[in-house]
This record gives sequence, structure tokens and C-alpha cells, in this order.
Amino acid sequence: MTEQHVYPVREDIAANAWADKEKYLAMYQQSVDDPEGFWAEQAKRIDWFKSPTRIKHTSFDPHDVDIRWFEDGTLNASVNCLDRHLATRGDQTAIIWEGDDPNDAKHLTYREVYERTNQLANALKALGVRKGDVVTLYMPMIPEAAMAMLACARIGAVHSVVFGGFSPDALAQRVIGADSKLVITADESVRGGKQVPLKDNVDAALTRAGAEVCEKVLVVKRTGGDIDWHEGRDVWFHEAVDDQSTECAAEEMNAEDPLFILYTSGSTGAPKGLKHTTGGYLTYASLTHQYVFDYQDGEVYWCTADVGWVTGHSYIVYGPLANGAITLMFEGVPSYPTHGRMGEIVDKHKVNILYTAPTAVRALMAHGDHVMDSSKRDSLRLLGSVGEPINPEAWEWFYRVIGNSRCPIVDTWWQTETGGIMISPLPGAIDLKPGSATRPFFGVQPVLLDSEGQVLEGAVDGNLAIADSWPGQARSIWGDHERFVQTYFSTYKGYYFTGDGCRRDEDGYYWITGRVDDVLNVSGHRMGTAEIESSLVAHETVAEAAVVGFPHDIKGQGIYIYVTLADGVEATEELKKELAQWVRKDIGPIATPDVIQWAPGLPKTRSGKIMRRILRKIAANECDGLGDTSTLADPSVVDELIEHRANR
Ligand code: WTA
Repeated sequence: MTEQHVYPVREDIAANAWADKEKYLAMYQQSVDDPEGFWAEQAKRIDWFKSPTRIKHTSFDPHDVDIRWFEDGTLNASVNCLDRHLATRGDQTAIIWEGDDPNDAKHLTYREVYERTNQLANALKALGVRKGDVVTLYMPMIPEAAMAMLACARIGAVHSVVFGGFSPDALAQRVIGADSKLVITADESVRGGKQVPLKDNVDAALTRAGAEVCEKVLVVKRTGGDIDWHEGRDVWFHEAVDDQSTECAAEEMNAEDPLFILYTSGSTGAPKGLKHTTGGYLTYASLTHQYVFDYQDGEVYWCTADVGWVTGHSYIVYGPLANGAITLMFEGVPSYPTHGRMGEIVDKHKVNILYTAPTAVRALMAHGDHVMDSSKRDSLRLLGSVGEPINPEAWEWFYRVIGNSRCPIVDTWWQTETGGIMISPLPGAIDLKPGSATRPFFGVQPVLLDSEGQVLEGAVDGNLAIADSWPGQARSIWGDHERFVQTYFSTYKGYYFTGDGCRRDEDGYYWITGRVDDVLNVSGHRMGTAEIESSLVAHETVAEAAVVGFPHDIKGQGIYIYVTLADGVEATEELKKELAQWVRKDIGPIATPDVIQWAPGLPKTRSGKIMRRILRKIAANECDGLGDTSTLADPSVVDELIEHRANR
């Protein structure tokens, strides 16, 4: 079996790494034996206005979930990402921007980012944004997105970045949920040579949300494309920013003041806005970025995520910039203009560290080894993977073809909720096994439990929970602490429950097996089955819908939908297309269904609960092992579904 294949730590990497085997073990041990001492020491990597003396105050008790780190310290995240580097690296590149068009690129120094961010911070203030206000960002992958995050942080506003691929409805829901008074967007974004009408989407979203919700829209001119203009509400970014002072005093924030909200999907209900705070998050993002990517001064580091996801927050913006790194931001898609683009960008900017997603690797792999022929990738030293389990085959291809069999791969497991990387190799310390996220980061105590809540020891499969808090952890769900407690702390008393299944092997390595709840992971994007179902039942022809994931070669999981039509509605191929379009428009292209099957009936228990286990098996074309169907109200619906299954 491939999992027996071990790639030992490379000696040349270990020799210069931030941590070798011994150091990892010693630091890990201290981090769990003496969290207070360990994190007090690590917090010194941050510039505080007032250094924290109270380090850890955390409880996972479901009656009193309360998570605080460094609670008497004060700081400002933008000062840590910008100001403090000016003396030592003001003229060093902070952000390399690579446009969608391969002829578009620019370098911005720390001083340039500092000055523009301050100007923007002053502009936000002039527009009436105050400490504690929520600013929504719906932006392309351009440096202004990073600067907008930092400008919010500078004045104590809370940013809520919404992925630019989400629909107007999804955006409206998030603007309302966060009670956001200002949206920052662009006229259009450009991806793969095509324009996406961001501003039009904002207009539509705000019409839906109602005029009283959002007062101002700040618009970056990215393409100069045609847009509607709402006098009194819309403001051009350059007009608001260009004449502002390049100095803006940074707000002194408490460590536990919110830095940002980020919406993500859960197994039930609408997406929830996770609340991350300032001191612990920044300490954790910066420490993990340094150790997991073994970042060395002057290296070029490229994370291919979008800033709309947590990976973009922690590992394009906050972690790298807090560490004075050179971070590359790519506007486009890896397949444009050709499938060689990713490698060509590596060569062009001499990228040393490349952090990407399994789905991107599998998409390239499907084209064969020669897709990387247009680049050499000699500058690469380290590779990283995130977002979903990486199958050993894709891991080996990533290692051999993209990394020229030279670069360790850090397979990093974490979540929007965790703020930063939780389980991952450290390249100088931990031998690699393809497909395994390997070992916990400092301060992280993984636990595997069975469905009864019994803690499992040794080599075993179980549900992954974490036994104690770490500084990067989300503190709450915005406006709904009870839901936070219910979702993460009520399944297993005293533990944070991740929603993931996991196996631990005989060497103590962790292998994430995927979600055990009703959350899908499609191309590394999280989606709740309930969200897609509620979109479908809003269509007049649909009586009932059930959504499950099924194994998909490139996306990891595809979206499989069973639809029961309303009485008298004719089941046609056109209607299938219409429903697929409906979901796509309602949520966004990432939610486009892969398969729709008509279901005259759904398998339900006598109490009316849909048995998703059966639907998942049929969708995966595993119809032999359906298990016990005798508890179904009407077992015959299963035969009907099997007979007409769409994936064989
Ligand atoms: C999955 C992304 C296996 C997992 C940072 C988790 C992974 C969800 C990995 C969080 C990995 C992320 N191996 N599974 N290396 N990384 N996942 O919130 O199911 O967008 O719960 O955060 O992605 O997705 P999210």
C-alpha cells in the first residue's frame, strides 16, 4: 500500500529549518505541559502596545464556553504586518501581484503597502467607519483586497470578506447578517480572461437587502467596465483614497477585540459568521506560517487560495505579512491561458514555497506530466496542500512532477474555525507519508472519539476532536454564541468537535478521512447540504430535495441531488438544466450540481427522517452494501432509486 511509503526528512532542509526532530518534540511537549509558559513566550513575536500578562483563560464546558487569550494585552494587527517592518525592510517587496493576464504583474514594497493602507484607513474614517463597525469586502484578488483588510484592522473595524464567486443573494445574506454599513468592491474582477460583474452583484445584493442596510459602496476601478452608479451611495476608491494622508494612527485594540468575521457553511441552517479576535489569531497565524512553511527571510511564498477563504486570510495576508515575508497574490486561475500557468508563475517570480489545493493538483494531473513542460520550477523548496484530503496518488504526482522529486510536501489540516494550521508536518522535523497530515502543531491536542463519546487510544478510526484551546481558535459565531456552543461543544462534552473523521496509525500519524456531518467539500470549498436543499425547494416545481456528496476524480466530492417534483410537474431534461442553473444563480458557481436524479420518493424512516446513508451509497454507485433498509417507511423507494441511478 502507498501509505507505507515514507519520505524521511531531507537533511539539507533539517540543517537550516526552524525546527528539527528534537526541537519539534521539545516544543510540542512544552506546549501541552505548560501552555501558559509556552504561549507567553510565543506572544513575544508580536509587537504589543501593552504586553499581555494573562495568557490563557479558556473553557470548553458547554454551559460556559469562553475562550480568551492574552486578554489584557493590546495591539494592532496592521502595525504588526506593516509598521514594524519599515525600519528593517521598508524597501523589500511585501506583495508580488500577478494579474490574470500573464503580462500584468507588479511588486509592492512594505512602505508602499503601508502608505496605501494608511490612506485607505483615513478614507474609511472619512466615510464614517468607526471602531467595531463591520466592513464587507467583495473583491478580486488584487492588492487592494489585502490593503482593505489591513486598513480595517488599523482603525478597529471588523472585516467580513465574502468570496467574489458568491451570488448576490449569498452576499446579501452576509451583509445583513453582519449588519455591515460599508461594502468595498471593484467594478469587475477578471478570471481566466473573463469579467465577473462584482459591482452589479453588489447592486443586486443591496437591492435585496434593503436600502437601510448598507450606506456606502467603495468601488475599485479594476477594468473600467460599464457599471451603474448610485449617487450618494457609491464612491470611487481612488477618489476617496488618493488625497488622504499616508499616516493614520493605529487604534489600540484589545487582544480579544474582533479582527474579522468569516462566513462558512455548516451542516444545518444558513452559513455562520465565525468571529476571530486579534491577539491570539495573529500570534497563531504568524507562528504557524513560520514553522510549517519553514519560512526563511527573503523567500518568495505563494499561496494560491482566494482571500475570500480563511486560507487567504491567514496565509496570504496576516501570517506572511506579520513575518515580513514576500507573499504572492494571483488574480487568475491556474488553467489560463494554458495549464502550464502555475509553473510559469513559479519560474517568473522564482517562487520558493507553493501552497495549493489537491483539486488543483488533480486537475493538472489529469492532463499528464507534460502539462508542466513549460516551466522548470527550480526555485521551489517546499510544497503545501490544504482544503481536503489529498489522495496518495495526487500527493506523489505533486511531489514528483511539480516539485521535481525534491521538495517536501506539508499537508496541512485545519478549518475556518481553527484560524490556522492544526495538523501538519514541519518540513525539518517530520517524516512524510503521502496522504497523511501527520502530526499536531504546537499546542494542538487531537483526540479520536467513537459515536458514544468514548476516547479511543492507539491506532484507530474515529471522530476528530481537540482537547484544549489554542490561540487561533474562533471565539464565537457572530451574533449567536448559543449556536457556536451547540455546533462545536455539545457533541462531545469538554472537547471542540471538528466535524471530520480521522484515523491514527501505529506511528501516531493522523489521516483525515473527510467530513462526518452533512457538509460537502467540493474542490476544497465547504458547502452545507441544507443550503443547497433549501435553494432547490424554493423552486416552484420542487416538492422535496436531498443533497449528498459522491466521489469525484477532480473535485474530491461532487454534488448529487435527488429531487421529488411537485404533483403534475413533468420530469424533463430541460427542467434538470433549469434546476442546476437555479442553484448556481442562487448560491454561486461553486454550488453547481453535478448530477440530478428524479426521485419519486426518498428513503425515510417511519418518523420521516431522510436516510442519507442510503442516498450516499446510491450516489457513489455502491448499491450492494446498503445495509439494513427494514426500518424504512417504504423500502421499495430504494429499488426505484437504484434502478434509475445516474452515476454508473
Ligand atoms: C477539510 C480550510 C483533509 C476538512 C482551511 C475541514 C482537509 C474542512 C484538509 C475545512 C487537509 C482542510 N486534509 N481535509 N489537509 N484541510 N480539510 O473551513 O474537512 O474551508 O473540516 O478551511 O476542509 O474547510 P475550511
